[in-house]
Amino acid sequence: MCSPNKGLVAVLWAGLLAAAPNLAAQAPSAELIAQYRQAPSHWPALASDPGVSPQELGPLAKLAHPAWQTEAVEQLGKQLFFDPRLSASGQIACASCHDPQLGWADGRRNGFGAQRQTGRRNTMSILNSAYFSRHFWDGRAEGLAAQALGPIENPVEMNAKLEDVLVTLNTIPGYRQQFSRAFGIDTIDAPHLGKAIAAFERTVVSRASKFDHFVKGDYQRLSDQEIHGLHLFRTKARCINCHNGPEFSDDKFHNIGLSYYGRFYQDLGRYDITGQEQDKGKFRTPSLRDIAHTGPYMHNGLFPSLRGVLNMYNAGMTIRNKPKPGGPKLSQHIKPLKLDRHELAALESFLHSISRRPGYVRPPNLPKAAAPIITQATKKL
Ligand code: HEC
Ligand code: HEC
Repeated sequence: MCSPNKGLVAVLWAGLLAAAPNLAAQAPSAELIAQYRQAPSHWPALASDPGVSPQELGPLAKLAHPAWQTEAVEQLGKQLFFDPRLSASGQIACASCHDPQLGWADGRRNGFGAQRQTGRRNTMSILNSAYFSRHFWDGRAEGLAAQALGPIENPVEMNAKLEDVLVTLNTIPGYRQQFSRAFGIDTIDAPHLGKAIAAFERTVVSRASKFDHFVKGDYQRLSDQEIHGLHLFRTKARCINCHNGPEFSDDKFHNIGLSYYGRFYQDLGRYDITGQEQDKGKFRTPSLRDIAHTGPYMHNGLFPSLRGVLNMYNAGMTIRNKPKPGGPKLSQHIKPLKLDRHELAALESFLHSISRRPGYVRPPNLPKAAAPIITQATKKL
């Protein structure tokens, strides 16, 4: 049987071989570097494939919040996000897997939840999630409020029944008061629970990176090597075809060739939601902001390091992707890149320049229960 590890080794070798033939690369010219040390309108044109109209890279715009999203609602959502009473065992909170100290993910290849069961997908960071229209690797949830209720009932995540969680929350006076103040409701219900968590998630956004300061006019903020990486990202390395705009994502779905079609680890991504042939093997283009702090990478957590990811792209993913009848079609934007080791190092340094470790988040005080809480787990005893 082929395990993803064998695939990884093959891809890493391919990356090294692809990088080998032209080790003595040209450093970028002083003119090119100077051209980048100006407003983006003076930068060289984006080099994208026909049919793609990428948005220029730049700082994130401020998110528009709904009128009801006051600071009190955000604080309520934060408590719920950190509260393990949203799980059947009373032990697992959203923050167990989306830990601010681990880039709002869990630092693991695949997350684990109830009964220490392993999920099949890598835990996404929730940083900047609010900028996306569809959520999860396969985009199956529309809107954060709808998304938030999913993990509560997911058997390998929090494994609870929503109605039980609502009963529990309604026994906690501190929550009832806050929901009543925020939304004018006497009884906490599912839609408002989702809304409160979503309000908190909208506050979880990247802090300004070196790159953000650079594009806003601090033109010495990036080194020559980082600028070289920025140039490659926008041109020869082809990243801009999919990772573009302020989020470094086109908010679309692509097959970059990691679906393990016909093998044990098969995951056809978007296809399992839409049933459309052309969606086989497609996953949502992730944001690359703070990417240095949110590994392991990809929907299956295949790559522990950024260099591994870059080697894979450099090889054009060819190793694992001999087309199979009925199988997924590799995106036409994925091709061998022929980047040498200086170029790979420059690209990696650029990815670091768009990354800033999330700030420390103090876990909130959680409202106390009025009476002992009977969870599903204790009911069984
Ligand atoms: C057991 C670990 C675990 C727990 C607990 C968990 N999540 Fe997740 N979360 C994941 C995984 C894994 C994914 C990706 C799943 C997929 O794509 O199928 C994910 C994806 C997400 C996303 C999508 C991000 C995006 O940009 O599309 C959001 C938002 C999110 N979780 C919020 C929450 C909230 C809110 C809770 C608590 C109610 C929660 N999660 C609890 C593991 C977890
Ligand atoms: C065809 C569109 C496309 C192109 C071109 C592309 N990417 Fe991606 N990228 C994706 C998609 C889709 C994923 C998620 C794939 C998956 O999990 O199976 C991804 C995942 C990643 C990840 C992992 C993110 C995470 O949170 O796990 C990194 C890092 C990355 N790409 C960097 C790059 C770089 C650097 C380039 C240029 C060398 C590039 N990508 C080119 C679409 C693309």
